Amino acid sequence: MSMLCRSAPIRSCAARLGLSLGVAGVARAAGVARQKHTLPDLSYDYGALEPHICAEIMQLHHSKHHATYVSNLNVTEEKYTEALAKGDVSLQVALQPALKFNGGGHLNHSIFWTNLSPSGGGEPQGALKDAIQRDFGSFQNLQQRMSAATVAVQGSGWGWLGYDTESGRLRIAACANQDPLQATTGLVPLLGIDVWEHAYYLQYKNVRPDYVKAIWNVINWENVSDRLKAAQKDQSLLCVAHRDQSLLCVAHRDQSLLCVAHRDQSLLCVAHRDQSLLCVAHRDQSLLCVAHRDQSLLCVAHRDQSLLCVAHRDQSLLCVFDEAQIQTRFPLKWSSYL
Ligand SMILES: [Fe+2]
Repeated sequence: MSMLCRSAPIRSCAARLGLSLGVAGVARAAGVARQKHTLPDLSYDYGALEPHICAEIMQLHHSKHHATYVSNLNVTEEKYTEALAKGDVSLQVALQPALKFNGGGHLNHSIFWTNLSPSGGGEPQGALKDAIQRDFGSFQNLQQRMSAATVAVQGSGWGWLGYDTESGRLRIAACANQDPLQATTGLVPLLGIDVWEHAYYLQYKNVRPDYVKAIWNVINWENVSDRLKAAQKDQSLLCVAHRDQSLLCVAHRDQSLLCVAHRDQSLLCVAHRDQSLLCVAHRDQSLLCVAHRDQSLLCVAHRDQSLLCVAHRDQSLLCVFDEAQIQTRFPLKWSSYL
């Protein structure tokens, strides 16, 4: 391990071992200045989420509970770094629960604060709304199912809406204690509901369902949408399929590459959505079409090794027509080829 865990590979080695070295641990192991984790500021006042979450809860939750996770994570990472330097594997293993608990607490709460907003509530819009509709049938179904799963957490824990990068679907999950969602389930965290008693007891006493019902009024759907977008970008590849040794499909989600298909060893289609490349097609080893939307290249077509058309919109080349060197027209109106 010591031979492998140097410089860049350190983080990946730690990840394989289920450890989270964090900035500080990696920095120390790499021989550079150590940076400690810090408590993130809130973008709103402690009382801004009232009446749904009272100021006293927010103040204690953020400045005491989250701050303690940060402090203990830094202490644990310091010990882990020393254990790593000494080659003390036994101590490294013994520190893993503390890394998981305090690292998870820091990760979870850092997401949680941004999931909330004084101007939150209502219903999500755009791609998130569409994904919820697709995976849960309706926003109300999502609310009902996520609330039920969150209220049902035994003891302390979190309810989550996560993104499954394998299937491209939204998933509801629950984690115990401070177990971080992604490290525990593989799901990318989008929205977390903290159901430790410190998150609600001062205001809601033992009635956890009332707290979970109220928190929907301050959910920052823009933040949840941004997290979904980032998760889809990071894991955008949808499908690579080979059939009979021919590539059938490569697809990227979210305004990116839609399809690359090869059949019989000929490229059939490359398509990009949203003002980008629409289609590149090769059949019989001849380029049929390259099209760009929005004031760009519209079409390049070759058939039988003869250029048929190149068209640029907006003060540029409209058309070159050359078929078997019979005719060349320049410029021509694009409409004559539509
Ligand atoms: Fe908490």
